[in-house]
Amino acid sequence: AFPGEVTYAVEVAIDCGYRHFDCAYLYQNESEVGAGINSKIKEGVVKREDLFVVSKLWCTFHKKSLVKTACTNSLKALNLDYLDLYLMHWPMGFKPGEKDLPLDSSGMIIPSNTNFLDTWEAMEELVVEGLVKFIGVSNFNHEQLERLLNKPNLRFKPITNQIECHPYLTQNSLIKFCQERDVSVTAYRPLGGSREGKHLMDNSVIQEIAESHGKSAAQILIRFQLQRNVIVIPKSVTPSWIQENIQVFDFVLTEEEMDKILNLNINFRLATFP
Ligand SMILES: NC(=O)c1ccc[n+]([C@@H]2O[C@H](COP(=O)([O-])OP(=O)(O)OC[C@H]3O[C@@H](n4cnc5c(N)ncnc54)[C@H](OP(=O)(O)O)[C@@H]3O)[C@@H](O)[C@H]2O)c1
Repeated sequence: AFPGEVTYAVEVAIDCGYRHFDCAYLYQNESEVGAGINSKIKEGVVKREDLFVVSKLWCTFHKKSLVKTACTNSLKALNLDYLDLYLMHWPMGFKPGEKDLPLDSSGMIIPSNTNFLDTWEAMEELVVEGLVKFIGVSNFNHEQLERLLNKPNLRFKPITNQIECHPYLTQNSLIKFCQERDVSVTAYRPLGGSREGKHLMDNSVIQEIAESHGKSAAQILIRFQLQRNVIVIPKSVTPSWIQENIQVFDFVLTEEEMDKILNLNINFRLATFP
């Protein structure tokens, strides 16, 4: 992104009606997102309480003593005094230090000897202190989420599990498990990410369904998640696509179309670590 591009995208998004902003320390653009949010608050287009601003604790900050600093750094960058939601970005901790991805000589991530149950306790403190309204997790599998939900003396439940989710990775069983345990699911990379490899938006099933509704492939991919009761966070810095991606409340996919999309699942995961 060129300087100012993300700020402008956020301003366009707010004007189009978006209210949920998914941020993270890792994305290195929180100051630009915050500038866009604050300019629209100043203009009187929205109030802070109309927005749902999310950030995430990066893996190198899992040590209990680092959690609050990580959160306040994101708040400073965003220029906000609270977050609506703070997520543990991944269940595993990495070695703390300057590198976001600390690698050993064979190119493998260097872990930290932290336990996400302890990290969670430090995140619970953030709620008590009023820095964040809710806490949640991201990239947790069934077993990890179960461990957290069964933690003795859990003070605050995770309100969401943000996971990679799209028709090539439909996550049926994990979604079922989360929803049964009253943990909402947020689908990241819902459009299949930037154009590389076998791209979802080119898939013929998606294309056909799009054509029959007079909608774009992106709109079908977003609507698909909404109809499964899944929160969805498409990303774009392109004004016409930002506008397009929110025009998803004026049509309904049939059960047959939903099944066709679900059948595209190949458990193809884009987000991985060495
Ligand atoms: N928790 C996690 O570990 C995690 C991991 C990955 C992502 N996320 C979150 O999920 C969000 C979305 O995921 P993502 O950015 O990886 O992938 P995505 O939303 O599936 O795809 C984004 C890509 O699609 C393009 N695009 C957007 N709308 C389009 C449209 N209508 N037509 C054609 N192309 C379109 C964007 O282009 P332009 O931007 O160039 O307009 C961008 O290249 C991220 O912003 C992030 O907040 C979370």
